Amino acid sequence: MDSSRIEVLIADDVAETRDNIRKLLEFEEDICVVGEAADGNEALRLAQELQPDCILMDINMPGLDGIRATERIYQVAPDCLTIVISVQGEQEYLRKAMLAGARDYLVKPFTGYDLVNTIRQVFSLEQARRSLHQDLPANRSAQVIVVFSAKGGVGKTTIATNLAVSLCKQQREVILIDLDLQFGDVPLFLNLKVKRSMADWHHDGREAIDDYLLKHESGLRVLASPQAPEQGELITGEHISQMITELKPHADYVVVDTPQFFHETTLQSLELAHRILLVATPDLPNLKNVKSCLDVLAKLNMADKVWIVANKAGANGIKVEQFSSYLQQPVWQRVPYDLRLATQAAIQGVPAVELNPRSALSKSLVRISKGVLEQEPENSPAGSKAPLTRMLFARR
Ligand SMILES: Nc1ncnc2c1ncn2[C@@H]1O[C@H](COP(=O)(O)OP(=O)(O)O)[C@@H](O)[C@H]1O
Ligand SMILES: [Mg+2]
Repeated sequence: MDSSRIEVLIADDVAETRDNIRKLLEFEEDICVVGEAADGNEALRLAQELQPDCILMDINMPGLDGIRATERIYQVAPDCLTIVISVQGEQEYLRKAMLAGARDYLVKPFTGYDLVNTIRQVFSLEQARRSLHQDLPANRSAQVIVVFSAKGGVGKTTIATNLAVSLCKQQREVILIDLDLQFGDVPLFLNLKVKRSMADWHHDGREAIDDYLLKHESGLRVLASPQAPEQGELITGEHISQMITELKPHADYVVVDTPQFFHETTLQSLELAHRILLVATPDLPNLKNVKSCLDVLAKLNMADKVWIVANKAGANGIKVEQFSSYLQQPVWQRVPYDLRLATQAAIQGVPAVELNPRSALSKSLVRISKGVLEQEPENSPAGSKAPLTRMLFARR
């Protein structure tokens, strides 16, 4: 990418089209054609071999078609920028190609002017994105803390928002991701107006995710979930992986709030987590679900990163000690039941740790953040151990 010319690979099964494109680019001083492929498999092979800056990719090709080739190339050679070229009438395919990782598209027949401009534009956008990333502190890679439970209403969002704000107050840079893709309420808990969400990031072609963060007055940055439940459907586990991976250099901690089920997207976040805070409340149905959750997490080789947080402790008969013996796992932190403060905080959109820092509820939430800070960052990258996640929830 730092060579002075933009290196282009042409993938089209029609030799005449490849020739024509070559001719259109012939006299451009900043662009050179480095190879040609007659089908998707050849494009994939040459993308890895030649590492061009840009691939012009036809859709209808024998064997591996252009969409699947784009997707594979996005995975194995993400630095190659794919521009899809296709005949009119394939609009639906173009959308699929963009979802697969294409950066732009051109409808055939196109002029030399359009072609050259598109290549330059895609290339310079990518350069701008990379130089932004180069400005980030070297070697920073956030710890990922996922707050999870097997049930709604147990306090996941309460704990995630308070933990995130509390870490900010202790001079850490924090990004909070709302992974409740259908009914996310993190912005409500923090009184944030959603200007952009992860649905916009997805819609705009999945570029520079840090541009899509909302800013809270504590310094916390938030990636909001889609505003309409149906938009949540567009977000896959792969997108979550991309989001978290791209956000990690931007913060010391990435805190993830989740819905209450093992969706493919939630699993992806659990796989990438350094810590999973599993929230349990003192009622039997919830404890039973938490126990099943622990069993699933153990099967996925994630048991060692789970910490149990007992929320709403003291709300009814079950004592915290009974939690641990039922779950056969120690309770890491307990958060007392305080309906008044929790309700006030939710109504005002101000986290309890800010609204009433001296309350027992807030102190316990701050203790959680201190407990997180006490842990040395692990050397081994998270997420290497759970191929079962993909086996269970593979989309394709
Ligand atoms: N420790 C607590 N004491 C009293 N109420 C709580 C406590 N934690 C959470 N709540 C309340 O429980 C409800 C559900 O909390 P929420 O964080 O939205 O749960 P989830 O994200 O798991 O669905 C909210 O009304 C919240 O104010
Ligand atoms: Mg919630």
